[in-house]
Amino acid sequence: MQEKKSIHGSWASRWVFILAATGSAVGLGNIWKFPYITGENGGGAFVLVYLLCIALVGIPIMIAEVFVGRRARQSPINALVDLAEESGKSTKWSLIGVMGLLAGVLIFSFYSVVAGWVLQYIVSTANGSLNGVTSEQAGEIFSGLLADPGTLLLWHTIFTIMVVGVVIGGVNAGLERATRIMMPALFVLLFVMLGYGMSTDSFGAGWSFMFDFDFSKLSWDAVLVAVGHSFFTLSLGMGTIMAYGSYMPKRASIGSTVLAIGFLDTLVALVAGLVIFPIIFANGMDPAAGPGLMFISLPVAFGQMAGGQFFGTLFFVLIGVAAWTSAISLLEPTVAYLVERVGMKRSTATIALGVVVWAIGILCLGSFNFMSDVTLFGKNVFDFLDYITANIMLPLGGIFIALFAGWAVKKKHASDEINLKSEGLFNLWLFVVKFIAPVAVGVVFILNL
Ligand code: PHE
Repeated sequence: MQEKKSIHGSWASRWVFILAATGSAVGLGNIWKFPYITGENGGGAFVLVYLLCIALVGIPIMIAEVFVGRRARQSPINALVDLAEESGKSTKWSLIGVMGLLAGVLIFSFYSVVAGWVLQYIVSTANGSLNGVTSEQAGEIFSGLLADPGTLLLWHTIFTIMVVGVVIGGVNAGLERATRIMMPALFVLLFVMLGYGMSTDSFGAGWSFMFDFDFSKLSWDAVLVAVGHSFFTLSLGMGTIMAYGSYMPKRASIGSTVLAIGFLDTLVALVAGLVIFPIIFANGMDPAAGPGLMFISLPVAFGQMAGGQFFGTLFFVLIGVAAWTSAISLLEPTVAYLVERVGMKRSTATIALGVVVWAIGILCLGSFNFMSDVTLFGKNVFDFLDYITANIMLPLGGIFIALFAGWAVKKKHASDEINLKSEGLFNLWLFVVKFIAPVAVGVVFILNL
């Protein structure tokens, strides 16, 4: 097959692809969500299941997504159609892509609300209003924010505009520039914070909480949350990585690139946990405090440490940037699709989509105040969207992408494109996407019903 090019542009090098995909993967999922769900699900055993999912399911499926995207050089739905036709299979496989676009829209709407909390915390840390807060005060400040729809709406709106602005700029101008400097800075600061955590007396307690496993604390629901989170944190199952893969240079090796992304993403999550849990234990706070965990623990630590106002502000800025680069990638597949399929201008498509996700986001932020009594299946809108996207839609999308890559695409097409070092390694990958990943996720689904 003659080499194709994406009409949306392409990354300057393999290195830029790694940065962009890591920018997508590393986000609120790592720093906000991973610690709080680990806290809610009892710690070590949950972390172990999560790590197994990353290695056994996440990495192989990420390889599948990158390869499908790169071979077809189109947005996810069209990529699936293209490769299905190339192998003489039904184009119905592209329905996976449709579900993916929907998942991206729904995730964005609550993601942007949480990113808005981060923006508020940048301001509150910078202006000194969090200086020296106790753990009770930190809790009250966070509850106060949730109770104030006007402020939540303001930040949600600002964040949506920030994301739309970058996505309009497109692959090279927008996405690439945003990731280049900010990602490395986040890594550095995270390790500075880890150093602070290690200097406290509770580092050991935080470490044991995360790495001593007690399987009696693990429910099937917790296993599903771990499975779902492994997709969420790696941006899998909805076409983000497929879209980014379609901009990847041909010569870059898929296997080692994906390993690097998976490694960096996992590292950030584990370090974030090792930063947050020592603070929690040192101050007698509850690890199962839920979505507010990061927002009530970090201010207390910054309030106590030397230079805390400065480091705190910087840290929240970098978390905001991590959220930004992830949110960009939530919109990109749908924007690329609208441009390809409907022939919309990139700017029109992005703004139209921005308005839709912004509006749904209002329902999410209302979950904490004016709509707190509206529930779907016993959950408020915010929790409901988080639950169905991360725990159902992404794993389902992921399984079908695995099945597509393993069963529908001709073996030769896959092996040409992925081009792993050895044939044995390729066969191992194929076995995992054909059998292990779908069966493992399927079993967890069934046990949860
Ligand atoms: N991986 C991102 C995070 O951890 C969230 C995300 C999910 C982004 C799916 C894109 C697609 O924050």
